Amino acid sequence: MFKIAALISGGGSNLQSVIDAIEKKDLPAEIGIVISDREAAGLERAGKYGIPCRLLNRKDYGNTLSDEILKIIPADTDLILLAGYLSILSREFIEKWQRRIINIHPSLLPDFGGKGMYGMKVHQAVLQASRKESGCTVHYVDSGIDTGNILGQKTVPVLPDDTAEQLQNRVLIQEHILVVESIRKIIKNKQ
Ligand code: GAR
Repeated sequence: MFKIAALISGGGSNLQSVIDAIEKKDLPAEIGIVISDREAAGLERAGKYGIPCRLLNRKDYGNTLSDEILKIIPADTDLILLAGYLSILSREFIEKWQRRIINIHPSLLPDFGGKGMYGMKVHQAVLQASRKESGCTVHYVDSGIDTGNILGQKTVPVLPDDTAEQLQNRVLIQEHILVVESIRKIIKNKQ
């Protein structure tokens, strides 16, 4: 069975979407471990399904966080999913798991990516730039920030008078679909 390790920092709604697809047998995969770099609601979600969960608080590990995570990722993992994971992974980590790490980003990369661009900040920047369209991207992780090969994107309209929260919710619905589609694509290519 295709094995996923998920790294999270927050609510874990993208993780939930992957769990739901697996439960419904829409995705031939299993989640071997969920790791969070902070206290996060996503850990509770995963715990409910009996998925092994670990909290490695970034405040305790600082620069060694990636090394510690490396130690606990099961060796038989096929894919590392960054599902709203906000810490930066070390070069060693990315090299070891090259082409086997994907990230979900809440904009149409290459626009509104890079250092400091995460979560609500992305949607605020899109509104400030008066864009008519936004969306989400799933991409492979390379040594840059939000620069790896793009696996898929989905677009949404930016509506007049949108707040950042409204835009975030609209994008998030598409993220939930795109993340499952992207993993399915990777599994299919591996067969
Ligand atoms: C998602 O919108 C994801 O795209 C974003 O964090 C949110 C996590 O939501 N990720 C980034 O901004 C990474 N640069 P979730 O915890 O509910 O899945």
